[in-house]
Amino acid sequence: MPNIAIFASGAGSNAREIIRYFHQHPTIKISLVACNKAGAGVIDVAASAGIPCFMINKDEFFKGDACVPFLKQHNIDLVVLAGFLWKIPLSLIEAFPHKIINIHPALLPAYGGKGMYGEKIHESVLLNNDKQSGITVHYVDELYDHGQVIFQKTCDIEDTDTPDSLAEKVHQLEHRHYPRIIEELLQKMF
Ligand code: GRF
Repeated sequence: MPNIAIFASGAGSNAREIIRYFHQHPTIKISLVACNKAGAGVIDVAASAGIPCFMINKDEFFKGDACVPFLKQHNIDLVVLAGFLWKIPLSLIEAFPHKIINIHPALLPAYGGKGMYGEKIHESVLLNNDKQSGITVHYVDELYDHGQVIFQKTCDIEDTDTPDSLAEKVHQLEHRHYPRIIEELLQKMF
């Protein structure tokens, strides 16, 4: 049975949808959540689903073993980033080649890179008068928001949209598609 680890730093709405989607799934299991931020909403999301949540230590992550032995001990097959704001160390990427994916709330390669997260993205999209935004699921490599694209989905932008309303549209797209894309990836892998 493939095992997934979800890495998240924030509210955890994507984590919640992924956990819900795979609850009682016949072949795929969400084994653990890893979080780097005390008090993050995702900690409660994991707790209410009965999924163990581990706090990541910054020094260990960047100067130590990058969680590799821990993930191997738990037989993790796929690392799913869902709003995880730290860069993934090269040693973790090398230990899980093509087995770490991320979701980005814009149409990469536009609006990606260091510092491009959350509201900043949607504000920039609206400032540029773009007519569409959307989501990108991609493999993680050693650069921010850079790895090979797996899936994209667009949404239309109306003149009346605000950063908040656009964020809401994009979140809905994420919730609708990310779990299914994860399932398809794992079905191809196994
Ligand atoms: C999502 O918009 C995701 O695309 C980005 O971080 C956000 C996380 O939101 N990488 P949530 O914590 O899942 O609600």
